[in-house]
Amino acid sequence: MEASAKLPVVVPKGVGGMDNDDVAPAGGKKQAAAGRWGFVQFFFVLAVVFCVLLYAPRVLVLSPYGYSIDVGLFAPTPTTATASSVPQRVAGGNAVALDLDNQVRSPCSSMRDHTICCDRSSVHTDVCFMAGDVRTDAASLSLLLFPPHQQAQNGTSSEEDKEERVRPYPRKWERFIMDKVPEVRLRVAAPRRPDGEREEEEHRCDVRHDAPLLVMSAGGYTGNLFHAFNDGFLPSWLTVQHLRRRVVLGVVSYNPWWAGMFGEVISGLSDHPVVDLLHGTRTHCFPGAIVGTRYHGILIVDPARLRDNKTIVDFHQMLADAYEKPPRETARPAQQQDLRDAEQRRRRRPRLGIVSRKGTRVIENQAAVARLASSVGFDVDILETANGLPLSAWYASLRACDALVGVHGADLTKFLFLRPGRASLTQIAPLGVSPIAREDFGEPAARMGLAYEQYEVRAGESSLARRYAPGDVVLTDPEAAKRDKGGWNLVARVYLGGQNVTLDLARFRQTLARMHAHAMRQRRRQERL
Ligand SMILES: *[C@@H]1O[C@H](CO)[C@@H](O)[C@H](O)[C@H]1NC(C)=O
Ligand SMILES: *[C@@H]1O[C@H](CO)[C@@H](O)[C@H](O)[C@H]1NC(C)=O
Ligand SMILES: *[C@@H]1O[C@H](CO)[C@@H](O)[C@H](O)[C@H]1NC(C)=O
Repeated sequence: MEASAKLPVVVPKGVGGMDNDDVAPAGGKKQAAAGRWGFVQFFFVLAVVFCVLLYAPRVLVLSPYGYSIDVGLFAPTPTTATASSVPQRVAGGNAVALDLDNQVRSPCSSMRDHTICCDRSSVHTDVCFMAGDVRTDAASLSLLLFPPHQQAQNGTSSEEDKEERVRPYPRKWERFIMDKVPEVRLRVAAPRRPDGEREEEEHRCDVRHDAPLLVMSAGGYTGNLFHAFNDGFLPSWLTVQHLRRRVVLGVVSYNPWWAGMFGEVISGLSDHPVVDLLHGTRTHCFPGAIVGTRYHGILIVDPARLRDNKTIVDFHQMLADAYEKPPRETARPAQQQDLRDAEQRRRRRPRLGIVSRKGTRVIENQAAVARLASSVGFDVDILETANGLPLSAWYASLRACDALVGVHGADLTKFLFLRPGRASLTQIAPLGVSPIAREDFGEPAARMGLAYEQYEVRAGESSLARRYAPGDVVLTDPEAAKRDKGGWNLVARVYLGGQNVTLDLARFRQTLARMHAHAMRQRRRQERL
C-alpha cells in the first residue's frame, strides 16, 4: 500500500498546507543533494512543488480502515514498583538491563544512573538519554528526572538547572521540517523546597511503566512511505531494538492514521501501548528515557555502530515477524499446508511484481512490459500503488515475489518486505533521477542482500523527449542541466514530477532475463538446502 494514500489530511493543490503540524508532507528527502546547488527558493520548491505536484494525487485519499490503538489515557498501569524505582543493571545482561544506549563509542554508552546524557555529535540527529526516575510533564512537553532521595536531600546538584532540548526527528540539518517537530525538554527535577512542598509530589505517577520510554515523532515527512521508514521506524529500531520491545513509544505528532497504517511495525518495536505525548494529560513514569533516534544513513543499518552487530536483515526480520505474527495453533494441518505451498512454489514460475504508479513516473507501455515478462518466464503480479490495501497485504504480495521491478518512487521502500538473499530488485531510473535512485533504494537493497539492478532510462524512452528538442541539455545531459538550469527545481518539476517512461522492450528483455536467471538459480539453491 502506498503510504501517502492514507494521509487523513487533504492538501489543497498548489498551496501545500505545509504549516499544518498534522500534515505529513511528502518528499523533501533530496535536500542534501539540493543543498549542493544552493538555491534560494529551495524551501518553497520543496514545500510546494515536490510535495503537491508529486504526491498530492496520492495524498488525497482518506484512510478507509484506520483502527485505533491504545493511546495515553487508556494505557494500562503496570506493576507498581516502589516510587524510588531506579534502573537496574541486571548481571548477566539480559533484556531487563537498562543499558539505554546501544551505539558503540557513544559518549552516553557509559552514562551514570540519575543523569541526563545527550549525544549531539551526528549531523542527522540528537539523542538524549535519561537514566533514573523519569516522569512526564505533559503541559510543558517535558521529561523530569527525579534524583534518588538521599541525593535530593543534599540540596543542589550540579545537573539541576541544566535543561536539554531535543526535537526527536533525524533531519537535524533540515531546518524547514525540524521547525515542525515539537521540542521536548529534559531536566533534572528541582530539589525539595523549604516550605515542604515538593515538585515530586506534583508529579505523582498516574501511569507507572516498567519499561523505558522512547520519544519519537510520527510527524515530519512520515506521510510518505519512504520517510515513514527512513525517518521513523528504522531509526527507532536502531535505537531500541536491543531492548527487545521492552520499551514504551512516546510519540509526538501522533495521529490515528499513523498508528493504524503501521500497527504491525509499531508492535514489532514495542510490546506496550503507544503514549501520545502531546495530547495526554496524565503523568507517566518510566525507569529511563531515550529522546530522539539514531540514524545511520538512508535506509541503512551500520552493524559496526551497534553493540550487537545487527544489520538491515534483522530489521527485515522484525517486519516479517510483525506481519506474519498470528502464530499457527494447529501444527499438523499447518505443516501440510506448508508442504503444499512449497510444492506449489516449486511448480509455478518465478513471480515478478511490477509496481504500477499513477500520475507521474508511469510506465506507459506497462501492459507490453508485463507480456514481455511473462514470455521471459515470470508469473506477473501488477502491484498498483495507492490501491487502498493495508501494508500487510503488500507484505504478503511482496513476500511471494522472486523479483520486483518499479520506477523510482516512495513505494519502492517496500523492498524491505522482499526476502533477503533471495529476491531481486530492478529500479527503473528515469532521466535525471539516477543518483537519487541509487542512493535511496539501490544501495540499501544491495545491503539487504537483494540482487539489485538499475535500469537507466535513455532519452528516447522518456516522455521528456516529447517536450524538449532532441539536442536539449535536459535530455542529453541531465547532470549538467541540473547544474546549470534549475537544480532541485528542475528535478522536482521535470525529472520527478513531469516524466513518464516507455521502456525499450528489446533492452528491458535483457534485464528481465537476468532477473529470471537469478530467480531460477535461487530456486535451485533452495531445493538443494
Ligand atoms: C548526600 O549526603 C550523604 C550524607 O551526607 C552522602 O553520603 C551522599 O554521598 C551525598 N550525595 C551526593 C550526591 O552528594
Ligand atoms: C560484533 O562484531 C565484532 C567484530 O567483528 C565482534 O568482535 C563481536 O564479538 C560481535 N558482537 C556480537 C554481539 O556478535
Ligand atoms: C504520465 O502518464 C499519466 C497516466 O497515463 C498521465 O496522466 C500523465 O499526464 C503523463 N505525464 C506525462 C508527462 O506525460
